[in-house]
Amino acid sequence: MIRVNEHYAKLQSSYLFSEIAKRVKAYQAEHPDKRILRLGIGDVTEPLPPACVAALHQAVDEMASRSSFRGYGPEQGYDFLREAIARNDFQARGAEITPQEIFVSDGAKCDTANIQELFTDKLTLAIPDPVYPVYVDTNVMAGRTGKCVKGRYKGLVYLDSTESNGFVPDLPEQPVDLIYLCFPNNPTGATATREQLAAWVRYARENRALILFDAAYEAFIRDPALPHSIYEIEGARDVAIEFRSFSKTAGFTGTRCAYTVVPTSTMAYTKKGEPVALNPMWNRRHTTKFNGVAYPVQRAAEAVYSAEGQAQTRALTDFYLGNAARIRAAFTELGYSLTGGENSPYIWVNVGKDSWKFFDKLLKRAQVVTTPGAGFGRCGQGYIRISAFNSRENVEEAMTRLRKVLK
Ligand code: MLT
Repeated sequence: MIRVNEHYAKLQSSYLFSEIAKRVKAYQAEHPDKRILRLGIGDVTEPLPPACVAALHQAVDEMASRSSFRGYGPEQGYDFLREAIARNDFQARGAEITPQEIFVSDGAKCDTANIQELFTDKLTLAIPDPVYPVYVDTNVMAGRTGKCVKGRYKGLVYLDSTESNGFVPDLPEQPVDLIYLCFPNNPTGATATREQLAAWVRYARENRALILFDAAYEAFIRDPALPHSIYEIEGARDVAIEFRSFSKTAGFTGTRCAYTVVPTSTMAYTKKGEPVALNPMWNRRHTTKFNGVAYPVQRAAEAVYSAEGQAQTRALTDFYLGNAARIRAAFTELGYSLTGGENSPYIWVNVGKDSWKFFDKLLKRAQVVTTPGAGFGRCGQGYIRISAFNSRENVEEAMTRLRKVLK
């Protein structure tokens, strides 16, 4: 008899963004004449930077000729991209990361989901609340939690991120083994200072714990005092894995390219307490289960690091931050308290009411899609997340509609 993985039965009925899409689709089917404006899922709208487009075209031409055609590439990514990443994203910031520590992939979502297969199922897992649902759901699938009771899985240590701690969770009161952190944060848009990250690194070193640091939104940081990478913190190399993505930095959500950094000094431990390096383990996993990102896509990602690419991606993220400023201004004027949107493309608004009811109200009365905070965890109840990823015209139209409905 083929047995099913019964841990799946513990999951909420659908993935947050699928549930939103379902509600929006149902509403649109009933009101085909209404123009819906989507500020829910963080999906980019603006075209690829011209430097990336030129690199893509050139790489496609190479693939069209026998002499420059390429078949399978290295699973970890081509050297040209790994070297550009190490130099520009880390060494330029004083973080000693080498190309061999970088694994190019098709998405940070997949990597944050897949990385947990390197660890035992018997560990204490610390999860911020609210949180990007992939971190929780993939651990539920792997059997690391008990049942979900009143929105919280048994066996997880939840790290509350609330107004009182500025949406940066405090260190856990009990020892934990694996910690997910994301800054600039999805969903709250909060950022962590150097001192705050240093406290987490210290904690991980003292407890032989590991931090999974999701930095998918680092390109939106404008405050020069804020760290872009956890490896800017001394000692982090031994206790942290970092995830990055070209999705939001360079408009690659449909193009697919990301990377994960697993330093050679990052360790996990056997039952007897012997250290095991995670870099060769992840290399083993990656080479067994992944066949690499398409050559033209890696060339497009490499172009992000050219002088033109840097200027163009900066302009792109500036553009979305301009949207974020408009969203912040509208909600502030309407009297709501909020966070995010300054070094982040997400704005986290305290709506003081049930998140899903507020979501429905905005959908039905203004035809504006947001993300209900409760979908990110219990501490998200009473909030909505607004994404700044859209055209300027749509964001301005959405704010005009919301001003009418919420005034
Ligand atoms: C989000 O809206 O949280 C993101 O777009 C989801 C993702 O990047 O997978």
